Formats: sequence, C-alpha cells, structure tokens
Amino acid sequence: RDSQEQRLIALHEEAQELYHHILMNTQSGEAALDYLLARGLTKDILETFKIGFAPKERVILQQIFKNRNVSDDDLSQSGLMIQTDSGKWLDRFYQRIMFPIRNQRGKVIGFSGRILADETFDDSGLPKYLNSPETKLFNKRVVLFNFDKARGDIRKKNEVILFEGFMDVISAWKSGVQNGVASMGTSLTKEQIAALERTTDNAVICYDGDSAGIEATVRAIELLSQQSEMQLTVVRLPNQMDPDDYRVKYGEDALKQFIRNNRDTVFVFKKEYLMRGKNMSLEADRLEYIDQLLLELAEIPSIVEQDMYATQIAEEFDLSKDTILLELQKKKRAKF
Ligand code: UTP
Ligand code: MN
Ligand code: MN
Ligand code: MN
Ligand code: MN
Repeated sequence: RDSQEQRLIALHEEAQELYHHILMNTQSGEAALDYLLARGLTKDILETFKIGFAPKERVILQQIFKNRNVSDDDLSQSGLMIQTDSGKWLDRFYQRIMFPIRNQRGKVIGFSGRILADETFDDSGLPKYLNSPETKLFNKRVVLFNFDKARGDIRKKNEVILFEGFMDVISAWKSGVQNGVASMGTSLTKEQIAALERTTDNAVICYDGDSAGIEATVRAIELLSQQSEMQLTVVRLPNQMDPDDYRVKYGEDALKQFIRNNRDTVFVFKKEYLMRGKNMSLEADRLEYIDQLLLELAEIPSIVEQDMYATQIAEEFDLSKDTILLELQKKKRAKF
C-alpha cells in the first residue's frame, strides 16, 4: 500500500493532467488559453510548465476523485478540495489559471491559481493568486517555484535569479534565462536561502520595478546577506515594470540582455534607494543621506570596495576623504 504522501502526490499529478487538458483541449479552457497566448506564451511553454485551467463550476476534481473512491481524509489532506458545512465536496480552485508547484524531485505538491476575469466572471474581492494551503506535501517555507527545472542551469552558471512572480520565472525561461526561481509570494525563508546556497555562490535579485518590488528587494538583501555568504547583485526593472512586462514590451532578447547587463552591486542599489524622497538641496536631507550611506558602507566586507565608494562619496558631496573614512570607522566601531 502507498503511503498517504504518495497518494497525495498522485492526486496532484492527476489534477495537473486534468487542468492542463482542460486548458489545452476544451471549450471551457478556451478563454484562459486565449488570455495566455495573448500574453505572449506559446503552447510549447504551457506544455513545459504543464499550466492548466480550473473551470468555475468547482466539480472537476470532485467528479474524478469521487468516482475513484478517494477517502475523505485524502481529499481533505490534499488541499485540493474543501468540504462545505453540509458535507458536500467542492474543488478549492476555480476560474483560475493553474501553475503546478513542484518539489525538488519534480513531483507536483501544490498549485498556485491566477484568477481569470472575463465577462462571465466577476473577480472583485478575490485574490489575484491563490496558493494551496499548507499540507503534508506542501510547505510554503521550503518550496521554490521552478527550482526543480532550474537547478541544472543554476549550477552551470553558478548563479540563481530570484523573481517575484511565477509569470516572471516563466517569461524569463522562455527568453532563455533558465536559472530563475520564485518564492510563493512571501519573503525568502531561511530554508529557501539554505537550499539556494547549497546550489550556488551567486544570487541576483530581479524583482518588480514598482515600489512593492523595491521594498521587497531591500528585504531580500537583508535576509540573504544575514543568512548566507552568497554574492548578491540587483537587477532593477525600469518604469514600474516586472520582468514579464519587459518581455511583452521589448521582446525576449531584450529581457535576456537586460538581466545580463544591468547588475548593480548592493551598495549602488542602496545608494539610489536611499535617495528616494530626499531633496538633496536641503542640508538636513543631505546629511541624513550621507549618514545612511556610510552605515551601508560599513556593512561591506571588502576594504578595497569600501575605499572605492568612500572616494566616490567624498567627491560627490565635496567632502574630504579623510572625513568620510573617519566617520566610517566610527560607524564600524558602533556595530560591535
Ligand atoms: P504580482 O502582483 O506582481 O503578480 O505578484 P505577477 O506575477 O506580476 O502576475 P501577473 O503578471 O499579473 O499575472 C507577484 C507574486 O506575488 C504573489 C504571487 O506569488 C505572485 O506571483 N501573490 C500576488 C500572491 O500570492 N497573491 C496575490 O494575490 C498576488
Ligand atoms: Mn499536454
Ligand atoms: Mn508586484
Ligand atoms: Mn509582477
Ligand atoms: Mn506580471
């Protein structure tokens, strides 16, 4: 007899096939397919990621699983179904484009579903993305979207690219950037960071160019630099765009080139970040900025790099480099 874990994986693999079939071959998946193709995905890429569609009636899995006499306990533990107060089982996911989430061995252990709004369906009040609940299989803290497929390329390039969204990972993949992963809409956890660090020495943060993405970048830098020895760089997308928007607007080659050629060091990223909302013609803002910048500088392990940026800051603000270095020493001492 299979363990419950194996049975739950089998239910997920079955659900994946079903959702994928509905998207690719049926009337009820047509609007979703049109939507995805209009976003510039191809049938090939939908196949690669086994993307699917869960129709709005909420009975697809229920019919199949009930016919097979799947136990109530398995149904409930799978996270794929929910039971109403009257005891009736309903599919959890409906009217959503389904992204299978795989473990490191490539087995489907959960889904994320993106709502599909159209004239027949009002999505107001519903979250754009809905993830599987925490189950025996699915631990949000551990899983990284696409890590199973990306791992070979991450090793080969000795570098992982961190994206915010599933669509960004897929968009990048289609553009030839196949070392991308995403967390499940949450900050990186220590488990995820440890798994990445076992695989590579370099992490590139490539989050959305909007203010939520920029704040998430700051947070990711903090977590990654505290919890790993990986070298960090940052790719900042322009004009509020996310990587997928960038591909749609400028094309696959352009996205690939952009990710390759626009790497900032953490310090350069912080330099621009700390500038936001400040008026550099005000003395108080300028002083605060220099102070914050030197705090960041004190975090850089390389003395050579520190010295280089100290020269830059001195020139930029017309201060003596000795002053900058003195203040830097003060800040470094204060850290201990
Ligand atoms: P975004 O809102 O940037 O989505 O959220 P996106 O990936 O660009 O999606 P599209 O292009 O509109 O289809 C980024 C990530 O945050 C999580 C998801 O993991 C998503 O991929 N998220 C977002 C949620 O978990 N729930 C939400 O309601 C929204
Ligand atoms: Mn197929
Ligand atoms: Mn976003
Ligand atoms: Mn986005
Ligand atoms: Mn997007």
